[in-house]
Amino acid sequence: MSDNSINNLKQAITKLRTQFDNEDLDLDAKKTAYLGKKGSFNELSKEIKNVSNENKREAGKLLNELKQYLQKNLVDNSQQKTEWTDLTLPGIKQKKGHIHPISQAIEEISDIFQKIGFTRVRYPEVDWDFYAFEALNMPSDHPARDEWETFFVKTPQNKKMGKMVLTPHTSNGQVREMERLKSKPPIRMINVARCYRRQQDVTHTQMFHQFEGLVVDKGITIQHLKGTLDYFAEKFYGPGTKSRIRPFHFQFTEPSFEVDFSCHICKGTGLITDEHGDKNKCSFCKSGWHEVGGAGMVHPNVLKAGGIDPQEYTGFAFGWGVERTYTLKEGLNIDDIRYFYSGESRFLKQF
Ligand code: PHE
Repeated sequence: MSDNSINNLKQAITKLRTQFDNEDLDLDAKKTAYLGKKGSFNELSKEIKNVSNENKREAGKLLNELKQYLQKNLVDNSQQKTEWTDLTLPGIKQKKGHIHPISQAIEEISDIFQKIGFTRVRYPEVDWDFYAFEALNMPSDHPARDEWETFFVKTPQNKKMGKMVLTPHTSNGQVREMERLKSKPPIRMINVARCYRRQQDVTHTQMFHQFEGLVVDKGITIQHLKGTLDYFAEKFYGPGTKSRIRPFHFQFTEPSFEVDFSCHICKGTGLITDEHGDKNKCSFCKSGWHEVGGAGMVHPNVLKAGGIDPQEYTGFAFGWGVERTYTLKEGLNIDDIRYFYSGESRFLKQF
């Protein structure tokens, strides 16, 4: 063996030490890897047979030092781990999540209607054209369809049902509910579902939610509709909130209305008195009222599509956006509903 042998050993020892210092193993694994029977130290010790006789003593000393270094540093690590812990210190608070504000609103809305005998149902959010339009008195060439900026699904068309759509409103639940109840009123449905339209701005998201009320029975009139709207207004927005219906047009209701609720900030007056006693336009509603959605008396053709005799039964229906209805609540001040679906926890944490 050449005299270089001791230098080779020295190099190997340095290499092993560096490796050991940088090794990111847990204590037991590190012990086995370096000091175990087949560990790096024993492997390296075998090299002593290559060291020339005159250097054997020095080699032995170096290996001994290495072993002590390895042992000491393994022990040091393990001591760090078992360091004393003060169990009386306050714990670290875990962040808690909560139900999404829109899910909370859906629960609240459903509860309000369930208390007066409505049954909460859910119908497909990807549905046939038939339920979304055709059965609602809107044949395929009807221009009124344009108002629902619909997403169509690329699937083969069905002869009776037509194309598939992402439901642009919850009104697809109307005829489905009549069918579920085998065309036998009374019907008191509250259908809450996701809806989709090709629209996106501060007051619209392409995916949003609607809730649809449908009541069909003998002798149902506009009075029942108005009473239900007033009841909801008081329960959801607080005592004193009023509803208002204005003439409108939908193919599936006759007569049809737009529904407004009185503004809780100016109490429906449209005016706010400032600190000097001057009256200014209410900046939240501008007119005393907020428009929330549509309603009307179920069109005879829709009852017929659901197998119900319009001579015997009448009904009312309404459908509004959950997001819109919710953002009008007192004190919320949400000026861009897209935040709801941004996944931005700093926004969502507030509710
Ligand atoms: N579906 C209508 C819309 O999306 C709302 C509506 C529902 C109107 C029920 C009348 C009756 O605008």
